[in-house]
This record gives sequence, structure tokens and C-alpha cells, in this order.
Amino acid sequence: MLDKSPASAVSAPNDLAAFWMPFTANRAFKRTPKMIAGAKDMHYFTTDGRKVIDGASGMWCTNAGHSRDAIAAAIASQAKELDFSPPFQFGQPKAFELATRIAQLAPAGLEQVFFCNSGSEAGDTALKIALAYHAIRGEGTRTRLIGRERGYHGVGFGGTAVGGIGANRKMFGNLIAGVDHLPATYDRDKQAFTKGEPDYGAHLADELERLVALHGANTIAAVIVEPMAGSTGVLPAPKGYLQRLREITQKHGILLIFDEVITGFGRLGYGFAAERYGVTPDMITFAKGVTNGAVPMGGVVVRDTVHDAFMTGPEHVVELFHGYTYSAHPLACAAGLATLDIYRDEKLFEHARQLETVMADAVMTLKGQPNVVDIRTVGVTAGIDLAPIADAPGKRGYDAMNAGFHDHDLMLRIAGDTLALTPPLIASDADIGEIIDKVGRVIRAVA
Ligand SMILES: Cc1ncc(COP(=O)(O)O)c(C=O)c1O
Repeated sequence: MLDKSPASAVSAPNDLAAFWMPFTANRAFKRTPKMIAGAKDMHYFTTDGRKVIDGASGMWCTNAGHSRDAIAAAIASQAKELDFSPPFQFGQPKAFELATRIAQLAPAGLEQVFFCNSGSEAGDTALKIALAYHAIRGEGTRTRLIGRERGYHGVGFGGTAVGGIGANRKMFGNLIAGVDHLPATYDRDKQAFTKGEPDYGAHLADELERLVALHGANTIAAVIVEPMAGSTGVLPAPKGYLQRLREITQKHGILLIFDEVITGFGRLGYGFAAERYGVTPDMITFAKGVTNGAVPMGGVVVRDTVHDAFMTGPEHVVELFHGYTYSAHPLACAAGLATLDIYRDEKLFEHARQLETVMADAVMTLKGQPNVVDIRTVGVTAGIDLAPIADAPGKRGYDAMNAGFHDHDLMLRIAGDTLALTPPLIASDADIGEIIDKVGRVIRAVA
């Protein structure tokens, strides 16, 4: 039985039992809640009146900082003007405007945007488009989907199947059939304490040739990877890896999907990481930062040739039997347009490029702190691996998250025993300094 009484020091609702919280240690949370009442710019405000600096951009999404007035105003006025209109067979102007703005941020050739409501839906949408693309072109044998070990593409059946984080898969049986995985790109012995993309690991893309030899190129529809694997604990792509993957996929007629749910909208200093790496995939999935986290939204930017392949047949017939009631929801579109204005007007992608060095230098000062076995950085993001407590993997990371929130007024994200730092792109050098100082204290607290 859960103790339904609130923790004494925290002003919180007096019944926490009904909400089954996602990706949360529910029993521990409900014993000692971490409760948030408000947020502005770089900070959260807790229900017990503390100001907590956000080292995680919410969950990699509030790139422009929290509760931005312009986004709130856009949502409010949209709710009064047009709350909802059907996205199937009908349109509303802001959906088209936002699609155009997003396509402009993507590499040339990726010209159409399909909207959904989350990164998970974006992943499943991209995989379904890949399957359908091959089917309509008469290559219906191409049904195999290739992900990567340690990859994360959300929690739909498709995204879970191509994902490579063991814990996310193990409870859920067979998922979907016909999936294979590239190896993860991380090797601590060869990459530890690297700033930016590691030198070692481009050759791991060649594993795709092995999978092609094993299964036959004519059975493979698509490869999906994150340009920087975030949820598994910040694994930047090795130098040259993504280029190599592009060459091999192109050679074999396999579609390449970049999952940019985290890396999109400035996290790596560009509208999309594809630009940073000079690699044009066939589809890019996005979510999170598109609305600065203020309204759920996701989507897929699609290569024009892929899109155009569907635009055949009688004009009254639906070309792609896929979509969501809330695809291109008016509130999300209004939030998205206001968000993109902020990114542009405040030059946040450029600022992120400057912040990258500040962040990398600052976080590397934590080398030598107790239990720190690796630090990785890329863009405005860092992963700090702590040595696990014997027989309790994940416990040190979990304790660090709690110590950060309760004792050091710091919001951290964790992936097992890895601390993930990914502050809003509006952060000043001083904010980065404060976050790293607090992280150091947290690391010592859990030593
Ligand atoms: C790379 C990547 N893809 C997909 C997702 C899933 O997004 P959502 O939680 O919005 O479904 C995430 C979430 O963190 C992500 O990091």
C-alpha cells in the first residue's frame, strides 16, 4: 500500500496515488516528491518555495528557457481565435506557415513536414513513411528497419523496436519483427574525456555493410540513428561516422532517418545537427524544441523525392493513410511559430555555438572528482559517467538527481549512472559556471 499522506515539508496535493507517473520510480517519488510549481527562463520554482536552476532544459525541450511571454501570448490568443480544426482534409494557415519555417531550417531537399504530437510519434511516422515509400515504388520486400544499440526513438512499438536501450525493450515481448541494430558508437577505452565528436569510431558505420550482407539490401527499408544519442547518456557521433552511414545507405537504396528530437533546434548549434555534420538524411524527426516544450508537437521533415513518390494516383484519394487528430494542432503551431521567432531574433543557435566551448571547458573541470569515469560533450550538452555502486547500478545516478533537486537547487537528468547536462540555450557563461559548480557538489555528495 502506498502512503497517501504528503511528505511533511512539501506543499503538495494530498493524494499522489492516482497518477501513475511515466518513466518514474513511483513509490520512491511518492514518499519524497520532487514537486515543481512554476518556471521562468533558467529556473524552476518548487512548491516549497525554492529556486532551482535547470541544467536539463526541462527534458531537452525548453531551449529558449521557461515560460517565455511571447510563446504564452501566442498560445493564449490562438486558443481564443481557433482552438481546433480538423487536420484531415482541412487546413489552417499556421500549419502551412510552420511547415515552411521548419523546412527552411532543414538541409536543401528536405522540403515537406508531416506533423504529429511527440518524438515517439515522429519516430513511428518516419518508419511508416519509409515502409510505405518502398511499397508504393514496387520494392515491398524492403521491410527491415535498422536502429542502433543504445539508441532511443521513443516508446511507440516501432520506436521501441529500433531503439537499443535494453530496459526499454525487455518488458515488451517481440515488439515488431524484422528489426536489426548497428553497434553503439561508444568505447570508453578509446574515447574517454573527449570534447566534441570522438576521433575513434567512424568504422562502426561499416557494420551496416555486414547487416546488408546478412539480410540483403532488398529487405532493408531504413536506418534510424540519433546524430547524438541523448537518452542513453550523451554519445556524440564519432568524426566521419554519419557521413559513412550516408554513403552506405545511399549505395544500397536504404533510407536514412536522423532522429533529431533532441539535436534539433539549436542543441548542437544549428537548426538541425544534419547541418553541423554536412550530411543530408532522407528524413529528420523532431519534437521538443519545436515549441520550446510549451505544447506537445512532433514531426518529420521529408525529402521531396520521398514525398513526391506518394503524389500519384487519382487526386481525390488520400496519399498516405497516416495522421493524428492533433497533427498540426493550432495551439502547437502558434507556439511553434513564436518559438522559431525567438530562436531567430535572439540568435540562439549562434549563441549555442559560442556556449559549446564554455560548457565543454567547464564540465571537464569535473575530471578527477570522485567516481567520475568519463565526461563527454557536444553542443550545449554533456554526459558525466559515474562509477556505479557495486550491485546497485543506477543508484548513484538516482541519488545524484535527488541530491541535486533537494539539496543543491539543481535540476539534472540521469541515464543510469550518467548525469546528463543540457541547459537552455539562453544560459550565460555564469549560469554554466553555477550549474557545473553545483554538479561538482552533487558528485561529492554521492561519493
Ligand atoms: C532522440 C529521441 N527520440 C524520440 C524521443 C521521444 O520523444 P517523446 O518523449 O516526445 O515521445 C526522445 C525523447 O527523449 C528522444 O530523445
